[in-house]
Amino acid sequence: MIIVLGGSAKGGVGKTTTAASIAHLLRAKLVENDIRGQLKCIENFRVHSELEKLDVEYPTNKAELIKVLEKSTEDNCIVVDCGGYDSNLIRIALAAADLIIAPCKNSTLEHSSLLEFHSAIAEISTNITRQIDVHILRNRIHPLTTNFEDFEYISTEFEHFKLLNSIIRHRSDFEKAMEKGASVTELKKYKHEKSTKEIKALVAEIKVLINL
Ligand SMILES: Nc1ncnc2c1ncn2[C@@H]1O[C@H](COP(=O)(O)OP(=O)(O)OP(=O)(O)O)[C@@H](O)[C@H]1O
Ligand SMILES: [Mg+2]
Repeated sequence: MIIVLGGSAKGGVGKTTTAASIAHLLRAKLVENDIRGQLKCIENFRVHSELEKLDVEYPTNKAELIKVLEKSTEDNCIVVDCGGYDSNLIRIALAAADLIIAPCKNSTLEHSSLLEFHSAIAEISTNITRQIDVHILRNRIHPLTTNFEDFEYISTEFEHFKLLNSIIRHRSDFEKAMEKGASVTELKKYKHEKSTKEIKALVAEIKVLINL
């Protein structure tokens, strides 16, 4: 199974953080597909810690990317962290994905940036003659926010968008864990925190969506 994190051209919506969290819980290989990607940095942070070595690959061209994606099987997940821009390598990953997740913050600018992504997805769908869906993940959402009308609007009005039930709130745990190159689910201190519960709920939802 190939899970791709992609979407918004606006930086910092949480693609890399979410990719690393999902990969940890699914024991999946991570794949860097972002020319400005930060997985190398995360990998380096972990070198002198007690954390497991990260299973990550850095394909730099089409042949290498396809070779990595071909390692995925029904039970063997690969999580691809894509940059928020359009490129051939990103389109290859999107076309190969079993599930595409687009983290998005709650702001009009983020939503309009997602609409550019929708146009690219529509084009790829036409090219490969298969409907591709993007699952929007509400991420970095203020803990008190309960109104999601904008998200509901874009996910009903735009053919290729769906809305995940899971919501990841803005929680400093994610940033603090990432300073060590870790996902919240890897560190004991966050075991009973809401951040961990939210990521676990997201992964449970993902498992249902891709029949894992
Ligand atoms: N739910 C969250 N709550 C708080 N901080 C978060 C959350 N998700 C991500 N972050 C933090 O936001 C910052 C940006 O996240 P991240 O690097 O994952 O975004 P990105 O979409 O991969 O960005 P880029 O477009 O630059 O690749 C990081 O400091 C990360 O720790
Ligand atoms: Mg990133």
